[in-house]
Amino acid sequence: MAGERVRVVLATGNEGKRRELEALLGEDWELVSQGALGVESVEETGATFLDNALLKARHASAATGLPAIADDSGLEVAALDAAPGVHSARYAGVTADDSANNAKLLEALAGLRPAQRGARFRCVMVFVLGPDDPDPLVADCSWDGQIATEARGAQGFGYDPLFIDPASGRHSAELTPQDKNARSHRGQAARALRDQLLARRGAN
Ligand code: IMP
Repeated sequence: MAGERVRVVLATGNEGKRRELEALLGEDWELVSQGALGVESVEETGATFLDNALLKARHASAATGLPAIADDSGLEVAALDAAPGVHSARYAGVTADDSANNAKLLEALAGLRPAQRGARFRCVMVFVLGPDDPDPLVADCSWDGQIATEARGAQGFGYDPLFIDPASGRHSAELTPQDKNARSHRGQAARALRDQLLARRGAN
């Protein structure tokens, strides 16, 4: 397959995510978002990040006939037995917004000392050649940190205002997008998947 540009559908409607990943993958890959191809997102009913990432990738691939990339991510808090996990987006309820989720998290950890507030963001990113690909590529990456006792910063989204990056001592919402991408679960997973794709492409 060396030589041709490979067209791949990304299971997202988010153009920013598509552009960022396409730049990272390099010129051999053309990434099209499923939204641009009129594909609706699928319900995330999986019990794990891997289940959901595969569900999304297989759905996008089946709907378009293209190879697909998808990711699923969330926050795992040690003191909460890895909750909210796959339920991160709807931790405080199906209609919850980021601030309701953050408020619920602060309440769940009330009274715990810094050493008891360990957490990690996790991202699983997958590539499938087709909906029935028996050998998907999988990158599973984490960003270890701690949940603060108060919100800080205005960048990012989700739990970023409460997540302390131990390397810088800053809350994730205080990092520039470039600094966040250099350390984050999603940035790491994207680079790991790229390396696997390049290795597989080189081998063919
Ligand atoms: P998704 O799978 O990327 O849509 O992430 C699911 C949920 O996990 C988001 O709605 C956020 O609540 C949380 N999450 C995932 N990644 C991040 C991040 O980088 N910062 C803050 N929250 C995140």
